[in-house]
Amino acid sequence: MINMTNSTALATKLVREQIARKQAETLLEEKSMALFRANQELHQRAQKLTEQHEQLNLKVTELDESHAQLAQSEKMAAIGMLVASVAHEINNPVGFITSNLEMLADYRKHCLDILKLQEEITSPHITSEQTRMGLIQRLERMKKEVDFDYMQEETASLLEECLLGASRIRNIVTDLMSFTHPKDIEWQLVDINELLQKTVKLAFNEIKFQTDIQWDLGELDLIYSSEGRLGQAFLNLLMNAVHSIEHDGLITLSTCMTQEGDQKIAIIEISDNGNGIVEKDLALIFEPFYTTKKKGQGTGLGLHMVKSVVQNHAGKIEVKSTQGEGTSFRVLLPYKDIKNMKRI
Ligand SMILES: Nc1ncnc2c1ncn2[C@@H]1O[C@H](COP(=O)(O)OP(=O)(O)O)[C@@H](O)[C@H]1O
Ligand SMILES: [Mg+2]
Repeated sequence: MINMTNSTALATKLVREQIARKQAETLLEEKSMALFRANQELHQRAQKLTEQHEQLNLKVTELDESHAQLAQSEKMAAIGMLVASVAHEINNPVGFITSNLEMLADYRKHCLDILKLQEEITSPHITSEQTRMGLIQRLERMKKEVDFDYMQEETASLLEECLLGASRIRNIVTDLMSFTHPKDIEWQLVDINELLQKTVKLAFNEIKFQTDIQWDLGELDLIYSSEGRLGQAFLNLLMNAVHSIEHDGLITLSTCMTQEGDQKIAIIEISDNGNGIVEKDLALIFEPFYTTKKKGQGTGLGLHMVKSVVQNHAGKIEVKSTQGEGTSFRVLLPYKDIKNMKRI
């Protein structure tokens, strides 16, 4: 009886165990099925994400391209404006050089006629005194007609004007060349403090003896930039400072590094105690060909070029000036990702 009960209990236990195993197997199957599905879903999602990533990459490239196009068209618009004003500025001296040369050609013709007549008068072939007298009278008449004395004075001043005009054109062309200098493309890590020192050395002959240079150079990290273009810009700022000073000059060059949010910035300041700029003119000084200097001494292209160089470095330029006290130009250059800077 007991044995029977035992075997029934064993059988029940076995059946239960079998059922439990079956259930466990089914559960396992279900779970692995779910896992399989989840894995598949994950795979699909990963694939989708990859596709989205690729699309995003494509969009970034498109954005990069349109940014480059925009920068290029802005550059072209600026160049277009510059070309128009250059044409105007060059046309003026070309105009008076041409009319002066036309007058000089006329004068030359008159001079040759007079010379020919003079040669005839002194020629041994003329034996008759009466003929010689006649020729002398003709010479006098001719000299009067062409106003020979005035012509001699005028020739010198016409030539002087031509030389002045040519030198004006040469200055404009030299300044313009700094806009498209081959060094434009030589971007490298630059020590700004060293560059400023080089610039001052370069301008030493121009810096009047009564002008002192004061240095206040802070620690700067190397900055990825175009050394040639930046040097040209600093030289322009320095020369303007020199020109603004009549006596007891002091030019201060200072640098420091600062942080604006995540952005590290190099600040370069060139200040002078020169004649300063009238407030209403501050808006004009960066315009091409704006100059207050005497004819032949300034082209008015310097600050325009400085601004374009600073903008090419994604930077900013600020100016503060008080008439009679001095001027201070501040250049702010951001430390940019090398890859991004190359595009500018
Ligand atoms: N440091 C300065 N002090 C006083 N005036 C200045 C200074 N820098 C620039 N300017 C004014 O801005 C004008 C334009 O400067 P710029 O573009 O370099 O042309 P330029 O030097 O050929 O005149 C100058 O003629 C001058 O009137
Ligand atoms: Mg200048």
